[in-house]
Amino acid sequence: MNNFIKFLVSHSKSYGFIFPSSDIYGGINAIYDYGQYGIELKNNIKEFWWKSMTYLNDNIVGIDSSILTHSDIWKSSGHIDEFKELLIDNKNSKKRYRVNILIENYINKIFYNNHNKKNKILIRLNKSLKKKDLSDIIKLINELDIYDPISKNKKDKYWTNMHFFNMMFEIKNSKNLFLRPETAQGIFCNFINVQKSSRMKIPFGIAQIGKSFRNEIVARQFLFRLREFEQMEMQFFIYPKDEKKWYKYWINKRLKWHLLLNLGKNQYRLINHKNLAHYATLGVDIEFNFPFGFRELEGIHSRRDFDLKQHELSTNKKFIVNDGKKNKYIPYVIETSLGLDRLFMAILTSSLKEEKLKNGKKRIVLKIPPYLSPVKAAILPLVKKDGLLEITKKIFNNEKVNHKIIYDCKDSIGKLYRKQDAIGTPLCFTVDYETIENNTVTMRYRDNMLQERIHIKEISQKIESKTGLKNILEKLLK
Ligand code: GAP
Repeated sequence: MNNFIKFLVSHSKSYGFIFPSSDIYGGINAIYDYGQYGIELKNNIKEFWWKSMTYLNDNIVGIDSSILTHSDIWKSSGHIDEFKELLIDNKNSKKRYRVNILIENYINKIFYNNHNKKNKILIRLNKSLKKKDLSDIIKLINELDIYDPISKNKKDKYWTNMHFFNMMFEIKNSKNLFLRPETAQGIFCNFINVQKSSRMKIPFGIAQIGKSFRNEIVARQFLFRLREFEQMEMQFFIYPKDEKKWYKYWINKRLKWHLLLNLGKNQYRLINHKNLAHYATLGVDIEFNFPFGFRELEGIHSRRDFDLKQHELSTNKKFIVNDGKKNKYIPYVIETSLGLDRLFMAILTSSLKEEKLKNGKKRIVLKIPPYLSPVKAAILPLVKKDGLLEITKKIFNNEKVNHKIIYDCKDSIGKLYRKQDAIGTPLCFTVDYETIENNTVTMRYRDNMLQERIHIKEISQKIESKTGLKNILEKLLK
């Protein structure tokens, strides 16, 4: 783990964002719990995505399908046969790796700027993966002279035990049940239900946020690769002739959504998927610059009619639609699939800063986009006596129905500000002696620490205008 990730993990735990799952029993690899501020941030991200999809588009509706699903769904969708990762062991270090990641990371390091060379190797790797040609893959590893990237010992290059491993969790004592590895199949299986009950016409979309489960054997990057995680997926059903148009449309639309988060334009890049999943015919990844380099954050795929056709064959249900000109089709599907936990990590990664102050001291601040911040504002008394605490509580009680706010009086004002900076609260309102005289409070901004004096009556409107989700949703419409 690099130093920044160590800092991120420790900050996330100390300030109630992320805890290791089953912590008191020693934790479980690649499973985490969200703490008191983590869940607020996560819910705010979900709300932003959900409203962007289902409120701003009158042809997209949302559903919430079950996590436990019939094994026949996964047989039809190809996941039982195809949803496999190729793993390999390093005999010297005893560490296990995903073959494609081992090779990709290695060539990214060694041939940093030589894109031609990297591409050639990736094409060969993907061809061999498709053909399941394991002897060529081990040949490639040996030609590249890859050694263990964790032990970093150049002698650790004896690779063994290469095998395919299905990533799905089967419920052992319940016949026919799987934990879903993607939320998308719940959408495909409800296509007819939604279409009939809402009388939707092509093109239309179905969105869903929910947990997915993958038995990730090799997971060493905090929230990036989890065994239990959440996806925010949308399947957009179209006429086949419009595939290219909608594919481009959703790539642009999703990129614009990410850029509005203001995490930095250069932090993103679009990469055509070189190793497409078994269901996809076109695929682009929106990659984010995580502390360990650019990695997939969201995938946009054309799944054509792969899934609906498979379900039609297995169930005899008809997925055919009519274009009004007597042409009948099984709709094509453009999918947008975003990992919620990955986005959560991207936001924390870009927001967590250690800043040097003018007085030589340091502060740790989470510069989270204000409309996503776990707490929108803190109401703080300068001191607990002389009636200031009572005024603080009164302001809090009046305002708590409108926004997620807190009041805190457990420390000196300087320490209270530091704590709010560390959890990313965009605004603090301080009640002091002047408040008793003229009903004004000090409003302090998290990012530049500037302060201004405002009337108590303005607090609600200030919180809304500086942190409200509405402002950013309106920008999406432009
Ligand atoms: N329905 C398509 C699908 O599931 P995917 O590329 O396998 O496609 C989509 O996953 C997104 O889900 C990824 O871009 C990533 O953000 C997230 N994701 C996938 N596996 C993950 C894992 N093990 N941990 C956290 N997020 C994951």
